Amino acid sequence: MRLFVAIELSPALCGALTELQAALRRENVRGSYTPAENLHLTLAFLGEVPEAEPVLEAMETVDFAPFPLRLEGVGCFGDLFWAGVTESEALAACARRLRRALAEAGLPYDRKRFSPHITLLRRAVFREPPALSPAPEEMLVTRLTLLRSDRGKRGMIYTPLGSVPAQG
Ligand code: 2AM
Repeated sequence: MRLFVAIELSPALCGALTELQAALRRENVRGSYTPAENLHLTLAFLGEVPEAEPVLEAMETVDFAPFPLRLEGVGCFGDLFWAGVTESEALAACARRLRRALAEAGLPYDRKRFSPHITLLRRAVFREPPALSPAPEEMLVTRLTLLRSDRGKRGMIYTPLGSVPAQG
């Protein structure tokens, strides 16, 4: 199983992001757009893991209180186009604690520096980077979700395998 831990987005955030994707399409930005149901913010990518249970157990030990997440800005990693979020120590601490819990449980994860982003489209093709931003929509993060990633006939399918709540 190919697994990752992510923050699932509220309908309001998803709505702001799908509006931004529509605006990008209108600006003739082409590519492989993330379907609304696949929009998420990854905290840790584990890759191939035989069982979900040890990951959920490690997630249970992550201590975090509910915290706000606010959309802000856009950027690119090569031809991957993403929406950003307002810099947040609570978010960074949550990712750090999660990654520490995974490491302590002997679970693998991609150790690339945490760079919070929500992928809007891949293989983006455009003449000039469009000057667009998401609406400054905000949500409260109250849980972390373990997702399985499968390659479907029409793109990736992300299936939630379980989630853990914030404390307090
Ligand atoms: P991306 O959108 O920037 O590719 C499922 O693939 C999720 O895990 C995506 O959010 C993806 O980020 C993220 N991810 C992080 N590291 C990854 C890696 N090494 N391989 C695949 N996905 C990774």
